[in-house]
Amino acid sequence: MNNKILESFQINDLIKLKSRIVMSAMTRGFATDHRANNQIKDYYERRAKDGVGLILTEGVVIHHTADGYNNVPHIESIEQAESWIPTIKAIQKWDTKIFCQLWHCGRISHSDYTGGTPPVSSTNIPASGINRQNNKEFGVPVALSSTGIQQVHNYYLEAAEKAIKVGFDGIELHLGHGYLADQFLDARINDRNDQYGGSIENRCRFSLELVEKVMNQHSASQVAVRISPAREMGGAYDWPDLDEMLNYFIPKLWKLGVRVLDVSCARADYFTTSGRIIRLVRPMWPGVLIGGASLSVEQANKEIEDQHLDLVTWGQYILANSDFVSKIKSNEKWTPFDRSMLSELY
Ligand SMILES: Cc1cc2nc3c(=O)[nH]c(=O)nc-3n(C[C@H](O)[C@H](O)[C@H](O)COP(=O)(O)O)c2cc1C
Repeated sequence: MNNKILESFQINDLIKLKSRIVMSAMTRGFATDHRANNQIKDYYERRAKDGVGLILTEGVVIHHTADGYNNVPHIESIEQAESWIPTIKAIQKWDTKIFCQLWHCGRISHSDYTGGTPPVSSTNIPASGINRQNNKEFGVPVALSSTGIQQVHNYYLEAAEKAIKVGFDGIELHLGHGYLADQFLDARINDRNDQYGGSIENRCRFSLELVEKVMNQHSASQVAVRISPAREMGGAYDWPDLDEMLNYFIPKLWKLGVRVLDVSCARADYFTTSGRIIRLVRPMWPGVLIGGASLSVEQANKEIEDQHLDLVTWGQYILANSDFVSKIKSNEKWTPFDRSMLSELY
């Protein structure tokens, strides 16, 4: 079989990947003290050594008020950023690239995680359901003021700057999965009537202003953006007014200088969710397109051959198989993912 996914891929003049295989961002909850450690380094290094071309780190929380999970890494202080240096070096030694995924949970949180202050969001209405992290209801958020939004943008900028300073090849802005940026994009959550709510243009403003600021400080080779217009978390849904949103948002990202776009569906079926979005996005996206969710090797190769995707992400299979790429080469079956695997980093 002509394995397209094993080919090297030039993202741009500066970044060449040794394969088209991308490790998806996956929160693991092993960052005691909100820092990366040797165990985390070894976990990522095994995948780099095995042949993964690009590693997207687990979500790294940009500021303590942005957290919502147990034992996830932060990048608020320079010491927290520096805790990643051994991991970055270990990965780059194998000629694999590593991007730091920058994360703000917004209202998918609780004051237990934000240092006692209420979580922030586009709205004052809490997310429904129970936060499985602390088995409490999600906290009642405070809707960010315009000044609050600028402050949050600054947290992102400071986090991005620290990430690049300590040697990450780039950063990924996580604008999906129902977290803060998505709480602005999504009309069912965003109930504002200022310039950050209401029309499509207004709902996209939080993200686009953020992207603009980030692009002013970093080169196109250092930035990826993750969106999830068709995520499925506790029920299938799309961004409302999906076509209009995509028609507005995607060309804007391009215009602002973004060249790497990661379209996710969280943990849903690829072909009925993000695969569908990717077919809508591709004609308006001349840049690098990343996507995938538990695709077979054949499906991944076909998505590349048909020019839907440039790079293919895997999450659960890479988590379950530290020798994921070797198994592709030797035509072996991947070990299926099992939730019990979450209790260990191997
Ligand atoms: C344990 C776990 C943690 C995850 N954490 C994140 C995360 O921090 N950021 C993110 O963008 N996606 C996260 N995801 C979603 C994955 O990046 C990926 O999109 C999803 O698992 C679908 O791909 P797969 O079917 O190949 O696993 C997570 C998924 C899993 C299984």
